[in-house]
Amino acid sequence: MKESNYSFKKYQPASLRWWHWLNALAILALLGTVLLRKTFLSWRTNAAFIKTKVEEGAGSVTPEVAESIAKALRDVMWQWHYWIGFALGALLVGRILIGLFVVKKCPATHAVQSAAGLSQVPKETRIGAVHYTLVKSSYALFYLITLYMVLSGILLYFKKDLGLAKDLTSFLKEVHEWLMWFFVVFVVGHIAGVFIAENRGDKGITSDMINGGE
Ligand code: HEM
Repeated sequence: MKESNYSFKKYQPASLRWWHWLNALAILALLGTVLLRKTFLSWRTNAAFIKTKVEEGAGSVTPEVAESIAKALRDVMWQWHYWIGFALGALLVGRILIGLFVVKKCPATHAVQSAAGLSQVPKETRIGAVHYTLVKSSYALFYLITLYMVLSGILLYFKKDLGLAKDLTSFLKEVHEWLMWFFVVFVVGHIAGVFIAENRGDKGITSDMINGGE
């Protein structure tokens, strides 16, 4: 493969650009719901807060009632996790359709092809090619983990209707919760990577993702 095959500057079709920004919004919003759940809307902190405030007003509230108020408040926000989660699922279906009918390339195949072509790349350009392959592999991993998040999220949402066993739901939830960290690392790494690329050989990749580029 030639060096130019490893450039990040490529024409981006409108459907893929829209998908990219909507997907970014959905992921950031999902991470936002988790951040709120663990901070301002943490039921432990808020149950204690409710109890203190009621008692300051000379009232009384049992820890159980304070807990249920705090959880009810949190759940109003957490409902957004589900709506945005389903939107992320719809976006994933959209991405598969874009892959099939517009881009006509599978991200996993792309990563494997880049990796397979590495041995033919001249030594002087090998670093760039390895970097390109790593970035494409991280995108393939991103899609795979997004697929898990969507499938596990939907299964957890319908766990009662589907009659799923407790062990299975606990496992799905634990992995779902744990994989959140992949998205934190991905978002930070992706933004840092784009900044670095813009300042090195790939000036304009951000505007390409907005206006399509050449
Ligand atoms: C980037 C994507 C996502 C991230 C980072 C994420 C993160 C999380 C985290 C951290 C939790 C655990 C919250 C806790 O109990 O403290 C959770 C729970 C949950 N998520 Fe997601 N999620 C994502 C996508 C989705 C999607 C696509 C759905 C599908 C609708 C979904 C549905 C759920 C459900 C139903 C639960 C509650 C599980 C339960 O309590 O049984 N999530 N999510």
